[in-house]
Amino acid sequence: MSVQYLENENIFEIRTNQTSYVFGINEKGTIQHLYWGAQVEAKDCAYVLKSRLHSSFDAEIDRETEEYGGWGGCHYAEPALKVSFADGVRDLKLRYEGYRIIGENEILLRLADVYYPLDVEIHYKAIPEFDLIERYVQVRNGLNESVRIEQVMAAVWTVQALPDYRMTHVTGRWAGEYQLRSTVLSEGKKVLESRRGFTGPHANPWFAVDNGKADETSGNVWFGALGWSGNWKIVAEKSTFGHVRIVGGVNDFDSAFVLVPGEVYTSPVFVGGFTSCGFGQMSRNLHKYQRDYVLPTSKLRKVLYNSWEATEFAVTVEGQKELAQQAAHLGVERFVVDDGWFGQRHSDRAGLGDWYVNEEKFPNGLEELIDHVKGLGMEFGLWVEPESVNPDSDLYRAHPEWVYQFPTREGTQLRNQLLLNVGLPEVKQFILDFMTTLLTKYDIRFIKWDMNRTVTEPGTVVSGQDVDASMWIKHVDHLYAIWAELRERFPKVEFETCAGGGARIDLGILRYADQAWISDNTDARDRLAIQEGFSYAYSPAVMMCWVTESPHGFNGRSLPLLYRFHSAMMGGLGIGANISKWSVEELDEAKRYVELYKEIRPVILNGDLYRLSSLRDSNVAAYQYNSTERSESVVFTFLQSQHFGAEVRHFPLQGLESHASYQVQTDDGEVCVRHGSTLMNIGVPLMLRGDYKSRMIRVKRLE
Ligand code: DGJ
Repeated sequence: MSVQYLENENIFEIRTNQTSYVFGINEKGTIQHLYWGAQVEAKDCAYVLKSRLHSSFDAEIDRETEEYGGWGGCHYAEPALKVSFADGVRDLKLRYEGYRIIGENEILLRLADVYYPLDVEIHYKAIPEFDLIERYVQVRNGLNESVRIEQVMAAVWTVQALPDYRMTHVTGRWAGEYQLRSTVLSEGKKVLESRRGFTGPHANPWFAVDNGKADETSGNVWFGALGWSGNWKIVAEKSTFGHVRIVGGVNDFDSAFVLVPGEVYTSPVFVGGFTSCGFGQMSRNLHKYQRDYVLPTSKLRKVLYNSWEATEFAVTVEGQKELAQQAAHLGVERFVVDDGWFGQRHSDRAGLGDWYVNEEKFPNGLEELIDHVKGLGMEFGLWVEPESVNPDSDLYRAHPEWVYQFPTREGTQLRNQLLLNVGLPEVKQFILDFMTTLLTKYDIRFIKWDMNRTVTEPGTVVSGQDVDASMWIKHVDHLYAIWAELRERFPKVEFETCAGGGARIDLGILRYADQAWISDNTDARDRLAIQEGFSYAYSPAVMMCWVTESPHGFNGRSLPLLYRFHSAMMGGLGIGANISKWSVEELDEAKRYVELYKEIRPVILNGDLYRLSSLRDSNVAAYQYNSTERSESVVFTFLQSQHFGAEVRHFPLQGLESHASYQVQTDDGEVCVRHGSTLMNIGVPLMLRGDYKSRMIRVKRLE
């Protein structure tokens, strides 16, 4: 039993394999957070369960550590719920009403306003094996009048009594997503958020908090990730009384909405966790959680080829067939035609929205290419960008009223496109219909779903349509509903989430997406940093990485084919180069690497990731993947640049069995046998020299 109520103490405990999460109802009826961390005896927390006063300036300090509080009375922290009643009252006083334990791992608390029938249910679900707790809330309007919801957060996490607080998060931009940052939390707020309509490349709804001293292998880390693919907000607020509260949910920015009588709002899920074993364990717990609880399937990612960097919009059936021929020779399992196959899509200036096959590019229909691809033993996949429209398109000419726009202004064009108001029922239906036609008519097994711009002018010119700010939420609700429906109708089709790279990856979309395109930057060196940042929160099981050209188009950097493969083998492998132009030697070399990847793929995608060394603070990056049974490891090492004849370094490995013997094999064929303890204390020698060198080492337990 992971959840329990201690009646004598009026305390609740959520216990996972390694952690305790404790709260209680104090004498004033406040649901006071008491403890979150390594396991303790819950009833011992009773002595901290009492309201605290300081002065008439901070009248109710315990309300700052409330599990979930309405804005009203003496409440000055970032509110979890802020409402306006129809009679003008803006004070919400939530009273604890009771609890219900569901099964082994779930508990819900019922709260209600002291006067109005506005009910709130706070849901907790323990994931004991990964030391995580999923939280969300439901708000029900039992009044006969509408209630305006001004802010409703999914959860409040409290981290108490650290001498110092450090917050780690990611930031970035297009082609440079998932850059790690950390910042000291002093009194006040640190806000991570998106106001761009989707998750965003500039931030991601994941955080970690520690005392400034945790590292990859040690130290207490509290962390969380929110599952919402629209505007979101995570606020870390340090109070003047020493604790930090992390509040997260759908962003309240421009998003007040109305709950009509009887209506229920359900928030996204905000998962939180604690580990005393540093950032590495945090990531492994999140990765396993995604694989076991979030992702729609547990299939291994297929090796794919994608046409984008090779042909961009210049798609022709002959060109694609030639690429497919080479891809099949390399051992590719899924051939994906990216942008440029439909409508009058010869550049990014036209065609978006016209989801019919371009007859000049495919005079015999798409079937000709699909048959060719299937004949070569591969699956066929297709790119779409359903939420977008070029003004130069039949769709826009037929339905100019479907785009986000305010009646008195022009819509801002980004990449020459506008966005469809997916919150409108007719737009949702249009997307469902054309996707259903495509997936019914053609044998398509994979969809890459892109979105190449942010939301602007979030209004509508449709007469009679409600132009309120709830469109931010409706867009995401409808998007999720479309994906859910398509998955249901086409269970054999896999989906990739992409937004000009990694701008829509979060635990919300990952409930529907099998894999994620994490950046348009495919330079293998830049990718190491992007992939590392990504790995803090998200699993290699979804992380798609392509091998592309050298020198790279973005920065002119030349990298060996082996380095490019090693970098891309650390997640789901793809090839995105113009392989029609590759030499026989390059193709043969690549074929060997694809074969090798298929051997190690289960360890990479299903295993445990250990970040041994980072280019953020070293000249060498090293990442180890262990199979779940710890019988096999794959280690990738990358030397940035050798200096002053520096000695070969050894990297102690992690997570092996000390007493077992292992065979160690480098990718140039050297083999030796080492004891687990040797590998974990002395390590594997790297023998890397020069610039941009890489090496893969395989370690197998000898039975
Ligand atoms: C952005 C994506 O991230 C790219 O991979 C590619 O699909 C282009 N869009 C196509 O327009």
